[in-house]
Amino acid sequence: MEPLRDTTMFLTGATRGIGRAIALRVARDGARLALCGRDAAALRDVADAVRAAGAPEPFAQPFDLADAAAVEAFYRAARERLGPPAILINNAGYNARKAPLWDVAPGEFDRMLAVNLRAPFLLMRAAFPDMRARGGGHVVNILSTVCHFDNEAMGVYTAAKKGLMGLTDVFRKEARPFNIRVSSIYPGGTDTAFRPSPRPDYLKPESVADAVYAVLALPAELAVHHMTFRPMVETNF
Ligand SMILES: NC(=O)c1ccc[n+]([C@@H]2O[C@H](COP(=O)([O-])OP(=O)(O)OC[C@H]3O[C@@H](n4cnc5c(N)ncnc54)[C@H](OP(=O)(O)O)[C@@H]3O)[C@@H](O)[C@H]2O)c1
Repeated sequence: MEPLRDTTMFLTGATRGIGRAIALRVARDGARLALCGRDAAALRDVADAVRAAGAPEPFAQPFDLADAAAVEAFYRAARERLGPPAILINNAGYNARKAPLWDVAPGEFDRMLAVNLRAPFLLMRAAFPDMRARGGGHVVNILSTVCHFDNEAMGVYTAAKKGLMGLTDVFRKEARPFNIRVSSIYPGGTDTAFRPSPRPDYLKPESVADAVYAVLALPAELAVHHMTFRPMVETNF
């Protein structure tokens, strides 16, 4: 069974880590993908891997999610190529560095908010009328277990993720009458380049992708609202 065959999905942060793993997992079903990230070479590489996994030629566009006009242009171009999305996954995110509030420059704050919060807002805002017109859809936002606890030196990242959590929670209620499912995913520590050093004891990005795939592949009348998971070594709960 390939529940996502020919399903159109727009995915951010596809060049590496969790996003790349999600792209490759849904490609095995034959999903039609629009992918982005800044690293053009890595994007070409994931597009090749998606094709090799059996999916149709993906639409791939490198740009910076901090650029609001570029985010909207990506949505328009992907829509033109593939049609309106059935699934939108806001996966891309970053934490510039660990720093207490007084060491964060205002420009750094603005950029963190633009990538982690404004870009998902712009993409949900663009996808909503298309999903409404097609009779439904599914939005999946990759949050973090930082939404469930507070750690020093992570203030702006935590604020951005908690901001996206709130936006997602409200959008879930707004979108429900239009048969649009909205899922919030809260991964714990995952062994990707997001982290300053390797953590083989943490989740594999492929394991996170399996969890996201399960959320996407469940029966359509079932909406996963919140899903939290952590590596067994993590104790911050
Ligand atoms: N790793 C963890 O422990 C962990 C835990 C909980 C939640 N998360 C969340 O999971 C998501 C994926 O993280 P990951 O661990 O896979 O991190 P990652 O390996 O660093 O990958 C991040 C992805 O986001 C893209 N991205 C980052 N900044 C961007 C920008 N300004 N414009 C466009 N694309 C940008 C990157 O692409 P380019 O570099 O090519 O632009 C890359 O594809 C993030 O939202 C993160 O906050 C991660």
